[in-house]
Amino acid sequence: MKFDPAKLPVHVAFIMDGNGRWATARGLDRREGHRKGVKTMFSVVGSAFKIGVKYVTVYAFSTENWNRPKKEVDELMRLFHRYFTTRLSKLTSKGIKVNVIGSTKGLSDTILSDIRDLSRVETGKVNGVLNIALNYGGRDEIIEAVNAAIKNGKEVDEKSFSDMLFTSGCPDPDLIVRTGGEKRLSNFLLYQAAYAELYFTDTLWPDFDTEELYGILSDYSNRNRKFGKV
Ligand code: FPP
Repeated sequence: MKFDPAKLPVHVAFIMDGNGRWATARGLDRREGHRKGVKTMFSVVGSAFKIGVKYVTVYAFSTENWNRPKKEVDELMRLFHRYFTTRLSKLTSKGIKVNVIGSTKGLSDTILSDIRDLSRVETGKVNGVLNIALNYGGRDEIIEAVNAAIKNGKEVDEKSFSDMLFTSGCPDPDLIVRTGGEKRLSNFLLYQAAYAELYFTDTLWPDFDTEELYGILSDYSNRNRKFGKV
């Protein structure tokens, strides 16, 4: 599959929804859905970079997800620890810089230390950036930035405010894809999504694949982005 690079989104963000339903439909524990979801994430993110997308952001854990049953939260944290210290720390050898974005509040010392270690991995030439939104909430992000601006005592503009968000240095998402059938943003990249194209699919995240991604990129390439102009 080849795409005209000018028609590809620079930054694609994914709301990876439907892991729980995928597992339940198979009589499995919800945690199995997250385990399969991780595999899908590596495959889909890899395909996105391969085709020429430069920035990918995945919504891995929201500030609201703490309200899930403890065993499910524990499993997600176990998966983060496992992959932060293995596959994700090795993506740098392929020129992919991994950033974990979100609040540090409530995260264990182990996860905080994994995030620090990941941020220190030397990348060399950067071919792509993967943002993992963990303990992320769009409103929380905006409020933190507003408070930082007040502390600085300086007025902000769009550019300087963007630089105070967790996604500082990263262009706004051109395309946000949500799997799992719901049609909402659920507190994801609220400020950054101002002009993003949105794509909703009923496919549950564990069933999402490269072929569907290519179809969505093709749909995106035919959209007319106006940014408020005629
Ligand atoms: C939403 O599905 C999914 C999540 C809350 C977790 C997503 C996390 C991953 C795919 C793992 C990412 C892993 C790493 C290492 C970054 P849901 O559980 O809300 O599904 P449901 O709507 O069917 O219940």
